[in-house]
Amino acid sequence: MISFEQISDYVNSLLKLKNDGTDELYNYLSKKGHPVVKRDVAEFLAQIVLLKQPEKVLEIGTNVGYSAIMMARQMKNGKIWTVDYRRDHHDKALENFKEFGVEDRIVLITSYAENVLNGLDGGFDLIFIDADKKGYSNYLDFAVNNLNSRGVIIADNLFWKGSVIAPDGFEDERNVIPSLTEFNKKFVSLKGFRTQVLSIGDGLGFAVKEN
Ligand SMILES: C[S@@+](CC[C@H](N)C(=O)[O-])C[C@H]1O[C@@H](n2cnc3c(N)ncnc32)[C@H](O)[C@@H]1O
Repeated sequence: MISFEQISDYVNSLLKLKNDGTDELYNYLSKKGHPVVKRDVAEFLAQIVLLKQPEKVLEIGTNVGYSAIMMARQMKNGKIWTVDYRRDHHDKALENFKEFGVEDRIVLITSYAENVLNGLDGGFDLIFIDADKKGYSNYLDFAVNNLNSRGVIIADNLFWKGSVIAPDGFEDERNVIPSLTEFNKKFVSLKGFRTQVLSIGDGLGFAVKEN
């Protein structure tokens, strides 16, 4: 039987053919071990932004800006607020935003998300959660309370390399597996949302607010 990994590798290798100008950045970040979204997730984010043209996007977990760039390139008028606590990534992220010509569309906040989220004005149209997995449940609460009607919540890594589905043999010193196991149940049960977990990347939660 074909495994999830084989399918994922196939799709992600196909997407290399797109050659949309971000490949060099993706390859560089992958080689350096930056934990960025896979190509299929990056493309999905770009497609959602292209379709929805959100005015306000919040991203929790910038790293050095790959997913923010993928979204920002599809925006006509909107703005992205992106949060990451890593001071050592700050300059590189700004440099990457400039390189792709999206620096005017992105506000980079260098802080722990839990310290700044409540100080942001709400009214987001899209919230992408991609930071510490133990914080996901709180980030989801924030997202639910700060999303516009028909707003979208996307959360990455819900499979955690498959360990959430088949935990045997995985080391889990930080207890991420139980956190994500609970998070996934909470995510799909959100009241007032159409929810789904997509088998792309490392498992992608996708929720659309009904009203
Ligand atoms: C998976 S990476 C984000 C990748 C990025 N979305 C991309 O695809 O280009 C997760 C990031 O979350 C950040 N992070 C972890 N815990 C955080 C927290 N409590 N507040 C803010 N950022 C956090 C890490 O520093 C890391 O850069």
